[in-house]
Amino acid sequence: MSAQPGAVIPVIRVMRPSDLDAVTAIEQRTYEYPWGRGIFSDCLMADYLCVVLDSGTDLIAYAIVSIAAAEGHILNLCVDKNMQHRGYGQQLLDYALDYARHKCIKRLFLEVRPSNEAAIILYTRAGFNSLGVRKGYYKATGGNEDALVLVHEFSSD
Ligand SMILES: CC(C)(COP(=O)(O)OP(=O)(O)OC[C@H]1O[C@@H](n2cnc3c(N)ncnc32)[C@H](O)[C@@H]1OP(=O)(O)O)[C@@H](O)C(=O)NCCC(=O)NCCS
Repeated sequence: MSAQPGAVIPVIRVMRPSDLDAVTAIEQRTYEYPWGRGIFSDCLMADYLCVVLDSGTDLIAYAIVSIAAAEGHILNLCVDKNMQHRGYGQQLLDYALDYARHKCIKRLFLEVRPSNEAAIILYTRAGFNSLGVRKGYYKATGGNEDALVLVHEFSSD
């Protein structure tokens, strides 16, 4: 699909403190149990990889990846509710995978709700495999929901 003449192509750039209101607003309308602003602020302070997909007028999506030694963890990957299924999640995931490769990471982990079909399809298509289950990891209506732990092994690329 080619862009219309004069159309702005969204760019991935580093998240800034001035993005926190917009990022928190996307988080609030997209997740049932959203992170608060303070968690994003802590991620910036912690020097995690924090990136946004910026249309030039609005933020569309963001991703946060922590790296420690030779292992990384996708802590959040979120596309604004009204902008999903247009390839933006894939674009940010590809960016995170390239970043991890560049940092010579051996394994990239993430947790996902077993009920999150779209995310599981996205991740498994990108080469993530199931590693196990974290019992009761997520809040859920009427109790807790387990997390599937997925891993991408770069040595097998
Ligand atoms: C999961 C999420 C990041 C996917 O991003 P997205 O921009 O909607 O997905 P993309 O358009 O890049 O889709 C990439 C692939 O994922 C799969 N996919 C995405 N949305 C899907 C849906 N609603 N149903 C089924 N498959 C879906 C498809 O395989 C798709 O490829 P295709 O378009 O060739 O069929 C996005 O839905 C989201 O932000 N959800 C809320 C937050 C969240 O759950 N984040 C993940 C936490 S672990």
